Amino acid sequence: MGISSTDPLLLRAARGEVVDRPPVWMMRQAGRYMKAYRDLREKYPSFRERSEIPEVAIEVSLQPWRAFQPDGVILFSDIVTPLPGLGIDMDIAEGKGPIIYSPIRTQEQIENLRTFEPEESLPFIKTILQALRQEVGNKSTVLGFVGAPWTLAAYAVEGKGSKTYSVIKNMAFSQPAILHQLLTKLADAIAIYVRYQIDCGAQVVQMFDSWAGQLSPQDYEIFALPYQKRVFEQVKATHPDTPLILLVSGSAGLLERMAQSGADVLTIDWTVDMADARARLGKNVKVQGNLDPGVLFGSKEFIRDRILDTVRKAGNRGHILNLGHGVLPETPEENVAFFFETAKGLNAAVV
Ligand code: CP3
Repeated sequence: MGISSTDPLLLRAARGEVVDRPPVWMMRQAGRYMKAYRDLREKYPSFRERSEIPEVAIEVSLQPWRAFQPDGVILFSDIVTPLPGLGIDMDIAEGKGPIIYSPIRTQEQIENLRTFEPEESLPFIKTILQALRQEVGNKSTVLGFVGAPWTLAAYAVEGKGSKTYSVIKNMAFSQPAILHQLLTKLADAIAIYVRYQIDCGAQVVQMFDSWAGQLSPQDYEIFALPYQKRVFEQVKATHPDTPLILLVSGSAGLLERMAQSGADVLTIDWTVDMADARARLGKNVKVQGNLDPGVLFGSKEFIRDRILDTVRKAGNRGHILNLGHGVLPETPEENVAFFFETAKGLNAAVV
């Protein structure tokens, strides 16, 4: 599986090749800001149906591809999708996010977690990824994604999203051995899941450690970083050529530590200026980002200025243009269209 010049732009940029313009995609590029998605949601009201019935998930994943031809097409799914395969039952509630019915609070529950076998518990992922590759060919890059151990543990232990992370921090700081046991099991399952996604057709995989920014840098080094590394090392051992991206929300204080994870590309959110991120990380670390999703509420001129600013600061190598986090549900579709058109119209002269 060598490097080939017919490979799509995003894949080449993620490998660090010099490209004519930065590739562009958006996190949450399929979803509520699109009328086509909202219409389909009426027919399939549950998130699990939309993401687990292959034909529906394929359709949703392709809605932004048809509308904007982004350089990356991401699998429509969720970070909690693999949890039932471990014996952690869940649902995704409208407007709230994941709900875990029996949150993990005891060592016994951790010991009873099931061995993760994605071919059995997530057969739809293969159908979806294969169909996406078939549909986009070499015109775009198919991205898979997973949640990181800390962030999945946060859902499993808290039982839902949280503002304070009190339950998992209680476990972390009063019964750390139990949490480490859970994080180890999750890391091994996530590594298996990343490999499965790659084997099914994902060309780049992003790991979301969305809530690791809730940890102090010192605790990030104890509860997040070692398990990010554990996942990436296991994946690299068998799939060394697939670029891996890491996202942590609110990561300004963590950038240098994120670089120790073994990820090939780091997502930079808007709490850091791209020029500062480059200076702190050095030219060898590839970056993705870093526009504030709120920028897409601005005028076209404003959106264009912010794109140019980011792209100039990031330089012409090892940058994937993206928002610093998911596109917001109220974003006007025409501004998303403008974002993609503008990004795709950039050329080496601008960069
Ligand atoms: O980028 C894409 O287009 C792929 C789709 C995607 C979803 N979830 C679909 C989704 C991705 C990459 C995710 C990852 C995810 N899920 C993360 C990591 C990214 C991040 O935001 O930091 C997290 C933390 C979750 C957990 C989760 N699932 C939350 C917090 C929510 C949102 C609650 C809300 O209503 O705002 C969900 C539900 C969810 N997952 C939605 C989508 C499009 C919204 C519900 C819907 O469309 O019906």
